[in-house]
Amino acid sequence: TTPDARAGGSGEPTVIGHRGAAAYAPENTLPSIDKAAKLGVTWVENDVQRTKDGELVVIHDDSLKRTTDVERVFPGRAPWKVKDFTAAEIARLDAGSWYSPAYAGTRVPTLAQYMRRIEHNHEKLLLEIKNPELYPGIERQTLKLLGKEGWLDGSHLKRLIVQSFSADSIRTVHELKPAVTTALLGSPKVRQLYQDACFADLINPSYGSLSRGYVAAVHTFKGPHGKKLGVLAWTVDDAADARTAAEYGVDGIITNKIDVVRAALGSH
Ligand code: G3P
Ligand code: CA
Repeated sequence: TTPDARAGGSGEPTVIGHRGAAAYAPENTLPSIDKAAKLGVTWVENDVQRTKDGELVVIHDDSLKRTTDVERVFPGRAPWKVKDFTAAEIARLDAGSWYSPAYAGTRVPTLAQYMRRIEHNHEKLLLEIKNPELYPGIERQTLKLLGKEGWLDGSHLKRLIVQSFSADSIRTVHELKPAVTTALLGSPKVRQLYQDACFADLINPSYGSLSRGYVAAVHTFKGPHGKKLGVLAWTVDDAADARTAAEYGVDGIITNKIDVVRAALGSH
């Protein structure tokens, strides 16, 4: 059960659509993952958080303000934190108009809705548990939902990576469900990788923190499944940067501009 985004070593890096196809459709929405599929990538990245009444939803910020019309619909509820709104309230919000009137009426997807669309599109998912410190137990809950949606069986496991900036969160995911491929966001010191490699299969650094030496160093470690630690770099929207990351030997590139990076890498 080795997702191809962490295969590493040979060929060009896997291209992963950041928040779907965030440069071309409203981020973290169903149209955004449809757009990623149209642009020819199978892997997409998202961000998962939790509502006041315990529903998992796909949204990046801890506030609804930037990517929905929450200020207009609920004017008295500043600072409009995701965790202070029920799923029914969030379902009323428009998560597309801020991006373009062409996407008016787009909703913040629940994780269940999102997973069904990923399945429908035959896509693969780099799922980020966002701000886990705000949502105690979100790791267990996310795994439970993934299981219910059929994503923890053998073939689906190859199409799933769970990542977080929180090492605690990723360690928890690994301990609860060791078969799941996991990734730690950030650039831990090389001396720290001995510990991180016990629970993370990949290390996903920002492009700005990347170097050839760091990629090579990460690749010398083996993850919890006995395979070389992978490296997915984010968020690379520039063709020259994409080629540099590829030269450094990264296993995948996370981008808002799927077409730009695919062209830079010569993807077919
Ligand atoms: O997947 C990497 C990247 O998404 C991490 O940063 O803030 O966009 O979630 P952020
Ligand atoms: Ca993210």
